[in-house]
Amino acid sequence: MSDPTAPSEPAAILARLAELQAGDLPVHGGRTLAYVYDSGLPEVDRVAREAVAAFAGSNGLDPTAFPSLLTMENELVGLTADLLDAPGTVVGSVTSGGTESVLLAVQAARDARSDVVRPRMVLPDTAHAAFHKAAHYFGVEARLVPVGDDYRADPAAMAAAVDEAPDQTVLVAVSAPSYAHGVVDPVAEVAALAAARGVRCHVDACIGGWVLPYAARLGRAVPAWTFAVDGVTSISVDLHKYAYAPKGASVLLHRTPALRRAQYFASAAWPGYTMLNSTMQSTRSGGPLAGAWAAVRAIGDAGYERLTRDVLHAVDAIVAGVGALDGVHVVVAPDSTLVALATDASCDPFTVCDEMAARGWHVQPQLSHAGRPATIHLSVSAATLAHVDELLEALAASVAAAQDAGPVAVDPGVAEVVAALDPAALGDDDFDGLLAAAGLAGGEGLALPDRMAPVNALLDLAAPELREAVLVAFLDRLQRPAR
Ligand SMILES: Cc1ncc(COP(=O)(O)O)c(C=O)c1O
Repeated sequence: MSDPTAPSEPAAILARLAELQAGDLPVHGGRTLAYVYDSGLPEVDRVAREAVAAFAGSNGLDPTAFPSLLTMENELVGLTADLLDAPGTVVGSVTSGGTESVLLAVQAARDARSDVVRPRMVLPDTAHAAFHKAAHYFGVEARLVPVGDDYRADPAAMAAAVDEAPDQTVLVAVSAPSYAHGVVDPVAEVAALAAARGVRCHVDACIGGWVLPYAARLGRAVPAWTFAVDGVTSISVDLHKYAYAPKGASVLLHRTPALRRAQYFASAAWPGYTMLNSTMQSTRSGGPLAGAWAAVRAIGDAGYERLTRDVLHAVDAIVAGVGALDGVHVVVAPDSTLVALATDASCDPFTVCDEMAARGWHVQPQLSHAGRPATIHLSVSAATLAHVDELLEALAASVAAAQDAGPVAVDPGVAEVVAALDPAALGDDDFDGLLAAAGLAGGEGLALPDRMAPVNALLDLAAPELREAVLVAFLDRLQRPAR
């Protein structure tokens, strides 16, 4: 396709798309342990893809014009409500993803409180970054409370944080489970303290919401976290994670219609149609909704129970296998499908990630935070079960290779400069220099080095604000028009 303005044959377009996609991480095969969730069921993926395609042009902007979308949305919300022990009052919406669900939970909590001048929310410091995005977008202060030694929210400390400004606190949130460590917060205790103070309590079950109910049904010990817990006012659950739906679908539930009301937006203050939206988007493709509806129907309740059994067996086997390895350990026993690994002084975690990638396994580095060292994240999929032995072999070999390679050396002069830099004082030229020093120089297309460990080691030395600024500068340089 040399001339992008000349019409192309469908076959040539599809061939080019396949060529582009070949450079991406694999979506299937159970070896990509972040970003994607693989049921290992090709027939489910096929029907979901067909559903996305069939509804890609339909517009959820007006449910009376596309009643099919309203039907599918209400059915998905109903199924999710049933899964989460919801009383008959519960209502909800399908959103584009976990971040949008969290944004809307925060926005609704803020806008329901016209009496509040300086809105704030109280979060464990393990809450997903989507809450920080909500704080940034909506002018809600995020009051972070350190988690305990068990990586779970500390209810007494959260209560004290609410009590610093109870009349300005619009929301308290917890995770089921947290992304970084994979453990479920003490939802019942936190919801109770929120309810006692008349504050909403959101449970972010974006990544665990479609797993934990089945885990409980399979006899696993799952602490109470659903609408069965008094004081829980809203819950987010992503369909595009462990409901194994195509990307672009999450559910946000509120305990009552009154709690949802402020989420709605209407505007008749212009000469066109009265804009009436339940989510952040206005025009909303029907594709992801139909894809999620199709996946949920295709897998069914019994199917999810099987997939949950498989993924939890995979997690058990990974935890047991890691226990037999030197140099690496599980940070905290996982409550769901997410495993955080840490290395000891004998090897560098970022090098382990590179070595895993070289062996076809994609795990995610997590930089050090709040005085805790860097870790390695694994979002385990049902499709990973068939390959757990290979995963553990790859991990053993990767740890051994990282031990042989030794620590990642960051030039002490560079380390000193990075530790002292104030991102607010830096200009574009400084960022160009920093990106070059980090091995992330711009240029044509993606300029990622083969090995990311030196980049991560450098970022790990930087304060969070500098990490953010450097990575924003990187993204800015990646997103330039192709001409
Ligand atoms: C607990 C939790 N909340 C929110 C999100 C954000 O979801 P999304 O990436 O779909 O926007 C995630 C994503 O991993 C998550 O794990």
